[in-house]
Amino acid sequence: MTDRTPLVAGNWKMHRDHLEAIQLVQRLAYHLTEEDTDGQEVTVHPPFTALRSVQTLIDSDRLRLILGAQDCHPDAEGAHTGDVSVPMLARLAVGYVIVGHSERRLHHGEDDALVARKARAALGGGLRPIVCVGEGQAVRDAGRAEEVVLAQVRGSLEGVEPDDPARVVVAYEPVWAIGTGRTATPDDAQAMAAAIRAELAERSGAAFAAGVRILYGGSVKPANIRSIMAQPDVDGVLVGGASLSAEDFALIVGHRRL
Ligand code: PGA
Repeated sequence: MTDRTPLVAGNWKMHRDHLEAIQLVQRLAYHLTEEDTDGQEVTVHPPFTALRSVQTLIDSDRLRLILGAQDCHPDAEGAHTGDVSVPMLARLAVGYVIVGHSERRLHHGEDDALVARKARAALGGGLRPIVCVGEGQAVRDAGRAEEVVLAQVRGSLEGVEPDDPARVVVAYEPVWAIGTGRTATPDDAQAMAAAIRAELAERSGAAFAAGVRILYGGSVKPANIRSIMAQPDVDGVLVGGASLSAEDFALIVGHRRL
């Protein structure tokens, strides 16, 4: 019952320099058919140093890929050594930016309030934030996964109220599934996505909640993509490791052919 456009996002993390990035995108373009990308959005999120090269390639070869970034600063400019702002990304035709990835929460001390500021900055600058949430192993073992994730959703989306709900994306990524080869079961992914949507409905109304895309992330591979995408509340995937292989990422994007 949904007209949500599926989104397949490739998060390269700190992999590939700008020359390797060009190669990877060229190989990906070679493997992708028009049928694969029809009716869905596909993003690639290289490191900042490769954004310009990948943007030029997407542009010149008219690739059906959307450029994404992995993070942004909440301010438009300022004395923030090492940071990159939303207007800078917008100038590079970046369409989506990941905010609040668990690796940033863990290694850079990012909390929900900061993630919400980044998400609001992204929207204000014309980008679409992919807001990441997800529980750790101890929280899941304690049976508190839903409670913790929904609190993250409330905090990380504070004041994030786009006119068009398609402009905000939530990625549910259980920390214990990231880079571990352990995936949430399709049922668990569906249950959490449905709980997130119910939370959004309570906050912003059913119509809004129905328009927000909710992704699953954590060890997504060609072998498990179909069962994940078959879940009614899962509107796409955020792919880490497998997005570094053009062949695997193309299979994930082309999951309808598998
Ligand atoms: P993974 O990473 O696919 O390598 O588990 C997912 C992510 O961190 O976005």
